[in-house]
Amino acid sequence: VNEENRWIKDVLWFFVFVGLLSIVFRLWSGLGATTNLSDAAPWGLWKILNMVAGVALSTGGFTVGFLVYGLKLERFRPLVKPAILIAFLGYGSSVFALTLDIGLPHRIWHPLVMWNEHSFLFEVAWCVMLYFTVTIIELSPTFLERMGLARLAGFLHRIAFGVVVTGIALSSLHHSSLGSLFLVTPQRLHPLWYTSLLPIHFILSAMGAGIMVVVLARILFARWFEHRPIAAGDRTFPMLQSLASIGAAVLTGYLAIRIVDLMASGAWRHLVAGTWESWLYAIELLASAVIPVAFVAIPSTRRSPPALAFASTSAAFGLVLNRLDVGIFGYFSDAKTAYLPSLNEWALSLGVLAAAGLVFFHVVENYAIFDDDWKRRRIARREFMPNFDRASRVWLRALGGELNRASLAAVFAIPVAWVLLYPAASSTDRLTPSPATAPIALDAERAVLRIDGNRGGMATVFPHREHQDRLGRKDSCVHCHHLSLPGDHSTPCSRCHRDMERASFLFRHEAHFSAVAASEGLTGWIRSNHSCGECHEPADARGPDTAKPCLDCHRKDMAPTRDIVAPLGMAHAAGYREAMHGTCRACHQKERDRAERPDLAECATCHQSLRSLSPMTVAARPTEFAVTDILRR
Ligand code: HEC
Ligand code: HEC
Ligand code: HEC
Ligand code: HEC
Ligand code: HEC
Ligand code: HEC
Repeated sequence: VNEENRWIKDVLWFFVFVGLLSIVFRLWSGLGATTNLSDAAPWGLWKILNMVAGVALSTGGFTVGFLVYGLKLERFRPLVKPAILIAFLGYGSSVFALTLDIGLPHRIWHPLVMWNEHSFLFEVAWCVMLYFTVTIIELSPTFLERMGLARLAGFLHRIAFGVVVTGIALSSLHHSSLGSLFLVTPQRLHPLWYTSLLPIHFILSAMGAGIMVVVLARILFARWFEHRPIAAGDRTFPMLQSLASIGAAVLTGYLAIRIVDLMASGAWRHLVAGTWESWLYAIELLASAVIPVAFVAIPSTRRSPPALAFASTSAAFGLVLNRLDVGIFGYFSDAKTAYLPSLNEWALSLGVLAAAGLVFFHVVENYAIFDDDWKRRRIARREFMPNFDRASRVWLRALGGELNRASLAAVFAIPVAWVLLYPAASSTDRLTPSPATAPIALDAERAVLRIDGNRGGMATVFPHREHQDRLGRKDSCVHCHHLSLPGDHSTPCSRCHRDMERASFLFRHEAHFSAVAASEGLTGWIRSNHSCGECHEPADARGPDTAKPCLDCHRKDMAPTRDIVAPLGMAHAAGYREAMHGTCRACHQKERDRAERPDLAECATCHQSLRSLSPMTVAARPTEFAVTDILRR
């Protein structure tokens, strides 16, 4: 980058240092404390932006390779090395971000030896890894030649064709399987984006936009390194024009398939529904295909370098937006919650991209990537080095200009990042559970309860005190109050049996992390991260069947009247009606002979509202329905 644009590098350095700090925090305190990922939004910025969109943007490596080696279109040869450099950086930064995105980064190598051939992710992992290796092999002659290892470089040149063909095969495989990944979510992904053609959409859009990214890179290179923008009369411009035309042709096919698919599947109805998803979809299609195709098709814009740069930028932006839609935004309405990446996630995402940018500049400036002029540029830079006073020249010599400015960026970046990203400070509210509500003691004094769990109007007048007296006052409670919330006694049934018909799930997994850490006196920076071992054996797969039984901890504080054997039995409280009938009717049926009250188990004994109806009405209908009908009326 020439001196006027030097600030670009300074900004990149700044983001690199912020990103470095976020890596430290992520490794130290874990994903839970540093990201906003959740069960509803399990794939966030790192996976979708850096990995899925990152590899898609760098598809140019294989498409330009295919044009030159496969179709023998020699005129694109000057762009092969830049395209491969882009692929190398795209894949390198994706793999790096992915390493930090998985739960245990030190296990990134597992798919190499532990094969799960039923998984698309397994295929993607292998393809990305192999293709990354291919880009290294393709790129290394450039470095080896400068290091004087010409013979090794020559050997690599000779096998280049085979390597490139392997790369093409791997690339097309995993781009479509990245799309296939999302096929497993038909009920969750918004219908505008969900289609069985996702694999085809993915590979076509990546190929088209990947080519446009190479065009853009060439135009930017001229702007930054050749000290003047590309002009329409330049030698290289016709080449860029025809490359852009190929990209636009692919994007035309992509656009056509998407529109036909939209019509055929009936998903177009969602496009005219006027929801925010319809707008997003329209913008995405406009940016990713319509604008680039139109700009390349219209002769006047095709002949203008700035217009071509705009078309390429639009294609790249549209591609990224598409991956974000399929991977993040498309899930919001099903999850009924929006995912907003945490500051830490932004910091790492941008940091990785900035690092890739710096490597790009470094390689372009010091190796023969775009042209052979790097030596001349270097010398020129020396000559034009600003001639300041002595002290600053000493500094520049001692530290070297680059290092000097980078450390200045670090001085600015690191304190700011520390304050903003410090995980223990930003996420405390997410870690402390809301305490169980205290019981309302006064209510115990009420002699008669009017039970109407769902406020449906079909209330039962329940002589609470009478029952307690009959069953032995103080010892009676356990006949009905079979379980209480921790630390409480005779918790009202409705606190756990929360739904009239369906069972309620009592166990709050995340609230337990910090509750268990507190009760077990665990220590550590983020204490809750160490709670897992209290319930999950390290060797077991984590899940309901292997977790520690609830009563092992709660026997002392939840006053259970009977043992619950099933592993998660205590987590599912039956529906309210079932809880009532299971308690009240079961006893009334048992007691009716002893109490000489044959009517005791009849519906009207408890559902007093039935008494006002004539016996004829009640008898005329099946009892269950009679009552529900009364309810409805
Ligand atoms: C020993 C007492 C008792 C008997 C006998 C009894 N129930 Fe219930 N039932 C209850 C209680 C208590 C509730 C909970 C009431 C509430 O929260 O609205 C209930 C709830 C219901 C509900 C749900 C009410 C709603 O609001 O959705 C229906 C329906 C019902 N009972 C039907 C019957 C029928 C039919 C019979 C006779 C076969 C019967 N019950 C016998 C105690 C009884
Ligand atoms: C025959 C069964 C039965 C017995 C015996 C019983 N209860 Fe209850 N108790 C209930 C039912 C049913 C409710 C209604 C709770 C609900 O729907 O949440 C209740 C509610 C309560 C409530 C909350 C009142 C409210 O307004 O929410 C308290 C406190 C309570 N019982 C204490 C006791 C104590 C103390 C004993 C023993 C001395 C006892 N109960 C014995 C069935 C019983
Ligand atoms: C602390 C939570 C909690 C409270 C409070 C509670 N229950 Fe339960 N209840 C459960 C759980 C969990 C189960 C399922 C596990 C089991 O069978 O013990 C259950 C099961 C039951 C069942 C058996 C349902 C079936 O599947 O056959 C009945 C009946 C019942 N509860 C009645 C009551 C009544 C009546 C009250 C209030 C007096 C009450 N429960 C209060 C948690 C609770
Ligand atoms: C209080 C005990 C307890 C603690 C502490 C605990 N778990 Fe669990 N875990 C369970 C139970 C019970 C289940 C099954 C119920 C469920 O899925 O919510 C489960 C399920 C899981 C599952 C599979 C289902 C899912 O939600 O994805 C994973 C993964 C898991 N736990 C990870 C963890 C991690 C990581 C920690 C530590 C931060 C942890 N658990 C701490 C009890 C616990
Ligand atoms: C390793 C011990 C441990 C295990 C196992 C465990 N818990 Fe807890 N649980 C706790 C602690 C500690 C608290 C906090 C108690 C307090 O607030 O006093 C708690 C709180 C609760 C609460 C009240 C807070 C809330 O979330 O509303 C419920 C309900 C509960 N646990 C249910 C369960 C169920 C159901 C299981 C089994 C699936 C289970 N627990 C397993 C330790 C445990
Ligand atoms: C442990 C046994 C038992 C349980 C549990 C029980 N009852 Fe009763 N209930 C009785 C007995 C016994 C009587 C009194 C019979 C008599 O009059 O001698 C009675 C009487 C009643 C009466 C007064 C009936 C009348 O017309 O005089 C109502 C109403 C009633 N129960 C409702 C309920 C409801 C609602 C529940 C559940 C929340 C319930 N009972 C749970 C044993 C039980």
